[in-house]
Amino acid sequence: MRTPIVAGNWKMNLSQADALTLGRAIAEGAPTRGVTAIVAPVALHISALGEALASSPVLLASQNAHWAESGAYTGELAAPMLRELGVRYAILGHSERRQYFGEDDEGVNRKTRSLLAQSLHPIVCFGESLDEREAGRTRDKVEFQVRAALAGLSADEARRVILAYEPIWAIGTGKTASPEQAQEVHAFLREVLEDRFDRETAQAMPILYGGSVKPSNFAELLSQPDIDGGLVGGASLKAESFLELCQIAV
Ligand code: G3H
Repeated sequence: MRTPIVAGNWKMNLSQADALTLGRAIAEGAPTRGVTAIVAPVALHISALGEALASSPVLLASQNAHWAESGAYTGELAAPMLRELGVRYAILGHSERRQYFGEDDEGVNRKTRSLLAQSLHPIVCFGESLDEREAGRTRDKVEFQVRAALAGLSADEARRVILAYEPIWAIGTGKTASPEQAQEVHAFLREVLEDRFDRETAQAMPILYGGSVKPSNFAELLSQPDIDGGLVGGASLKAESFLELCQIAV
């Protein structure tokens, strides 16, 4: 019942020419049904990518967005401006934003609530560090982050949110959580969502896995009942591997 999602987070990579070449190749090869394919280029390239992807099934995400509609926030991106360029999603709370730019749970919640009000779908990231996993604190950490991100949301609003579980120790390291490790966390989150909202909402909300996703491990991750797709970094930077991930998901 949940359509699989393959979301490519290009992070701070690719010249505009390379981003356009990649975007066009993805637009040409992406399946037209059975999967939601999303790419998140750097903000500078969103406009050009919007044109390249315009008549394709591939949807655009921003890697960040501010909560305010406009104002004195130097260097930030407002949701209405992103919407104007065809952006439908915004990644929030990525561990790199939390680590290097001070993004915290309160800010993620503020952005989640205001982006929903401004018709963008938040892709909310969370996950434990290696120390937290080894100390047996994975469940506490992810429950805290998810409850904080979704604070104040109605069930209807929550259904427009995509969650992305990204164990920090698996991001860009080549170490993927095993399908069983990821499924255990996703199933637990589904229980948290049921407790926080209701069963229907918990079943409707997509929960992506992120952390060294690649064509060779994706099918097994996706075969888990509570894993609904991938938030993909490195493997989304090549058309061949991104399209292979989309084909696996269909
Ligand atoms: O947003 C994507 C994640 O940080 C995963 O990145 O696939 O390069 O490990 P990765």
